[in-house]
Amino acid sequence: MSSAFEQIFQESFVPLDSHKRVGDYVLGRTIGEGSFSTVRLGRNVNTGEQTAIKIIPKKTALKKQSARRRFERETQALRIVHHSNIVRLLDVMETDGNYYIILELMEGENFNSYLNRKGPLEEREARVYMRQMAEIVHHMHSVGVVHRDLKPDNFILMRATIKLVDFGLSGFLKEGSTLSTQCGSPTYTAPEIFALRPYTHAVDMWSVGMILYMMLCNALPFSPEERKSHRHIYNRILRGLELPRYISPNCKDLLSQLLKLGADERLDATGLLQHTWLKT
Ligand SMILES: Nc1ncnc2c1ncn2[C@@H]1O[C@H](COP(=O)(O)OP(=O)(O)OP(=O)(O)O)[C@@H](O)[C@H]1O
Ligand SMILES: [Mg+2]
Repeated sequence: MSSAFEQIFQESFVPLDSHKRVGDYVLGRTIGEGSFSTVRLGRNVNTGEQTAIKIIPKKTALKKQSARRRFERETQALRIVHHSNIVRLLDVMETDGNYYIILELMEGENFNSYLNRKGPLEEREARVYMRQMAEIVHHMHSVGVVHRDLKPDNFILMRATIKLVDFGLSGFLKEGSTLSTQCGSPTYTAPEIFALRPYTHAVDMWSVGMILYMMLCNALPFSPEERKSHRHIYNRILRGLELPRYISPNCKDLLSQLLKLGADERLDATGLLQHTWLKT
C-alpha cells in the first residue's frame, strides 16, 4: 500500500498521457515553451523526484543539426557550471525523435512574465536581482562559459531568487580566444555580434545592461518600428541609447558602463560585482 505522501504526490502529479514515459521519467503537463523546445514536468518513477524535462525535437522546421548542436551545447555548459542560481542538470536521454534534458525543477515564475506584471521595478528591488546576476555571470565567465542568450525569459524567479536556464546557445572560451557565431535574441544582443566581429564574454555584460534597463523601465529602448529588423536595432544602438531621467546617477553610471559600444571598455563581471550601485 502506498504511503500518505505518495497518495498526495500522485494527486498533484497528473500525467498527460499515462503511456508517455521516457527512461525512468513519466511526463506531466507543459510548464514552459521556447522556440526550440517544450519543457514538461517529469517524475522519476524510482525516487518520486519531480523534475523539469526539456524536450528538443530532432526534426523541426530547423535543420536537424541545429537541434543537435543546441542539445550538445546546453548539456556541455551545464556540466561545467555549478552555481546555486543556475539550473542543475540531472540526466540526458535521446530517442529517435527527441533529445531530453532532465533538469532541476524551478517552481517559480518566468522572470519576463514577472516584469510584464510588476515592472517597472524600483531600484531597490532591481538591485537584489542584479547582485545575483552579477554572481551568475562572474561564475560562468570564470569557467569559460559565455551564455549568449541572457534575457528575462531565461530566468525563473523563485521568491527573491533568480535562477538561470537555457544554455542552448552557450559558447566556450579559452584564455585569449574569441567567438564568432552570430546568435542571441536581437533586442539583448551586443553591437559586436551585429557587426560580425569576433567577440568575448563582454557580449553577456551588454545583455545584463539591457536586462537592467528592462527592469527599471519595463520596456527596451527600441520603438516597434526599430524592432522589426536587426539592422534597425543595430542602428539605434549606434546612435546611442538614452537613459530615462528618473534613474539615479549611480545606476546610470552602471548602465552606461554595461552598455558601452566598445567591448573592451565595457564593465566585466568582476567590475560589476564591485560597482557602488550594487553595494548601496
Ligand atoms: N528547469 C526548469 N524548471 C522550470 N521551468 C523551466 C525550466 N527550464 C526552462 N523552463 C521554462 O521553460 C521555458 C523554455 O525553456 P528554454 O528557455 O530552456 O527553451 P528554449 O527553447 O531553448 O528557449 P528559447 O526560445 O529562449 O531559445 C523557459 O523560459 C522557462 O520559463
Ligand atoms: Mg529560452
